[in-house]
Formats: sequence, structure tokens, C-alpha cells
Amino acid sequence: MEQTTLFLLVLCLALGAHILCAEKCNLTGRWKNDLGSNMTISAVDEKGNFTGLYNTSVADNPSKILQSPLLGFQHLTNTNGQPTFGFTVSWTFSEATSVFTGQCFVDEHGKEVLKTMWLFRRHQNTIQDNWNGTVVGTNEFTRLELQMDKNLLNMAFQSVLVFPKSHILSALRTIFEKNVLGFAGGTMGAVNGMRPDGVPDTSSVQSNEVWIGVVYALAATMIQAIQQGPFPPALC
Ligand SMILES: *[C@@H]1O[C@H](CO)[C@@H](O)[C@H](O)[C@H]1NC(C)=O
Ligand SMILES: *[C@@H]1O[C@H](CO)[C@@H](O)[C@H](O)[C@H]1NC(C)=O
Ligand SMILES: *[C@@H]1O[C@H](CO)[C@@H](O)[C@H](O)[C@H]1NC(C)=O
Ligand SMILES: *[C@@H]1O[C@H](CO)[C@@H](O)[C@H](O)[C@H]1NC(C)=O
Ligand SMILES: *[C@@H]1O[C@H](CO)[C@@H](O)[C@H](O)[C@H]1NC(C)=O
Repeated sequence: MEQTTLFLLVLCLALGAHILCAEKCNLTGRWKNDLGSNMTISAVDEKGNFTGLYNTSVADNPSKILQSPLLGFQHLTNTNGQPTFGFTVSWTFSEATSVFTGQCFVDEHGKEVLKTMWLFRRHQNTIQDNWNGTVVGTNEFTRLELQMDKNLLNMAFQSVLVFPKSHILSALRTIFEKNVLGFAGGTMGAVNGMRPDGVPDTSSVQSNEVWIGVVYALAATMIQAIQQGPFPPALC
């Protein structure tokens, strides 16, 4: 079992692709849908249940929108790693409830996509109004990963402007030693997540990958830092 995992990891890293890495299709993380609504799902536990937060972009009264809690289950017995799931959202800003059900697929580009169908129940004042109390619809969710990438880069570039130079150099030196030299013999660029003890962070798919855009940005930041002044010999 452990050997299989290791083999898959090596393949993931060698291919630099999500196809094998995303074999789990774990719902944990940040998602956006085709309407611009976002949701964050916390760790899916060993029983398959999870909690999260849903921020919708659409409502009868958009000015009142507030983030709302969700509660759900992901199936864990699925063999091809593309599980079904369901969750309920209790809207905090209106007397209404939604239920979503769907499946997490890995598409032909290795990208996870959540195909869902939902029922939205609004509050009706009388039993006679029950007939038009429920609306049905569909939504497709994809991961908000690129945003994370952009946020990280923004933070990196802002830090160049804000923090003392000695701190920046020390952070870059640590990243170079741990994430670059300490991973795959320094031949693959910077791994996203590295623990302080020099062991790659395998707690999520993202942390255990090398992203070419992040590596370019890191290299550019290092070159800029070198050009702006004396750089510690350890790094050059
Ligand atoms: C999952 O359910 C168990 C009880 O069945 C509970 O202890 C645990 O907190 C739940 N986890 C989440 C993420 O809701
Ligand atoms: C969803 O997240 C994106 C990226 O962070 C943000 O631009 C957008 O405003 C968010 N929308 C909602 C409804 O939270
Ligand atoms: C939720 O979305 C609304 C817009 O629909 C936005 O104004 C608000 O900042 C978002 N809240 C969070 C916590 O993302
Ligand atoms: C549907 O229900 C709403 C109350 O939620 C009511 O205001 C509306 O008139 C109903 N629509 C029709 C066509 O009766
Ligand atoms: C899903 O991923 C999260 C974060 O990577 C992890 O904590 C959780 O244990 C995973 N759950 C399953 C069922 O694989």
C-alpha cells in the first residue's frame, strides 16, 4: 500500500500532471461555480462527512447575501476515485434551504469538476402556496486553485516591497535550501510544501507538487533580489 502511494507520487511528480494526483477527487478545498458562487469545504473525515461555507453570488435580495454553513457527506467506497456526494446549505440571510447532490469527476485534462443538481426551498406563508415553494437547478464547480496561485504571487511581490531586505533574503535562502535543493536532488525546481525538518509535506495534493509558474516567479524574485544587492554566497 505504502509502496503504491510512493509510486503514484513519483509518477505524479515525473508527469507534473494532476491526472494521477487527483485520483482521489477529494472535496476538501475551495470551489467556484458557473454563477460565480464560492464554497470552501473543510477536511472530509474518515467517515466521509464534511462541513463548509457557501458564499452565493445570486439571491432574491443580493444586498443581504451572507456566507452560509453547509453540511454533507462524500461517498468513500467508490473504487475509481470519482465519488458521489450531497450537502445541505442553511441560508443565514433568508428563510430558505438548499440541498445539492452530485459527483466529483476528473475530466480529460485531469481537472476535478463537481457536477451537481440542487433543490432550493424558500419559505411559503401558507400551505396553499406550497406548490411553488421549490426550485430546481444545476451547477458545475471547479477548484479555485489559480486564484490561490495568484494570491501567493501577490503576497510574494508585496513582501518584496514591505519587508526588510535581510528577511527577504533569509526567506529566499530557506526556500532555496529546503524546497529546491532538498527536493529531488535539486533537479525539479521548488516543491510547494516542505516541512521545516526537510520532509516534503504530503498532506495535500497541492503541497506535494512542483508548479512551473510558481518556480518561474520564485526564480524571477531571486534574480531581482540578487540584482538589487549583495546576496549571501550560500545561495549563489
Ligand atoms: C463526522 O461525524 C462524526 C460523528 O458521526 C463527528 O464526530 C464529526 O465531527 C463529523 N465531522 C465533520 C467534519 O462534521
Ligand atoms: C469568489 O472568489 C473569487 C476569488 O477569490 C472572488 O473574486 C469572488 O468575488 C468571490 N465571489 C463570492 C460570491 O464570494
Ligand atoms: C460573499 O459574496 C458577496 C457578494 O455576493 C461579497 O460581497 C462578500 O464579500 C463575500 N463574502 C466572503 C466572506 O467571501
Ligand atoms: C409563488 O410564491 C411566492 C411566495 O414565495 C408568491 O409571492 C408568488 O406570487 C407565487 N407565484 C405565483 C405565480 O403564484
Ligand atoms: C481529503 O483531503 C484533506 C486535505 O488534504 C484531508 O485532510 C482528508 O483526510 C482527505 N479525506 C479523505 C477521505 O481522503
